[in-house]
Amino acid sequence: MSRKFPENLLTGYLFIDRQHQELYARIDDLLETLKDGASKEKILEVLRYLDEYTIVHFDFEETAMEMHRYPQRFDHAASHMALRDGVATLMKEVQESQGATPELREACQRIVVDALLKHIAEHDMLLAPFLAEKNPEGSNL
Ligand SMILES: [Fe+2]
Repeated sequence: MSRKFPENLLTGYLFIDRQHQELYARIDDLLETLKDGASKEKILEVLRYLDEYTIVHFDFEETAMEMHRYPQRFDHAASHMALRDGVATLMKEVQESQGATPELREACQRIVVDALLKHIAEHDMLLAPFLAEKNPEGSNL
C-alpha cells in the first residue's frame, strides 16, 4: 500500500516537496514492513534505507540554508541533529528487539514518523518560502 503524502505538508517549493515525497515513500515502506511482523534484520534494512535519504535531504537543506544565510538555520539544523539521534537510538532498539513487536512499532511511529512529520510542519514550512524567494529555480543547491 502506498500512503499519500499529506497535502497540508506540501510547502509549495518543488525541490523540497519532491524530496519530502521520496522520504514519505520510504516511511511508508517502514510502516508496511512493521505491519507484516518482519524480522529485525528486515526492519533494520528498511530503516537504513530511510536513514540514507534522510541524510541526503538534510544535507540539501543545510547547504541551502548556509548558502542563503537563512536566519533560523541553527535551530533548523539542531532539529535535524535531534532527528538523526532519534534514528540512531531506534536502530539500537531494533537490534535489541524480537522484531516487529507492538512496542517497536510504537517507537518507530513516535521517534521517526511523527518526529519527521512534525519537523516538516514546524521547520520546513518556514524554510521553503524563504528558499523559493532566494532561489526559485532551485539551482546550485
Ligand atoms: Fe528540515
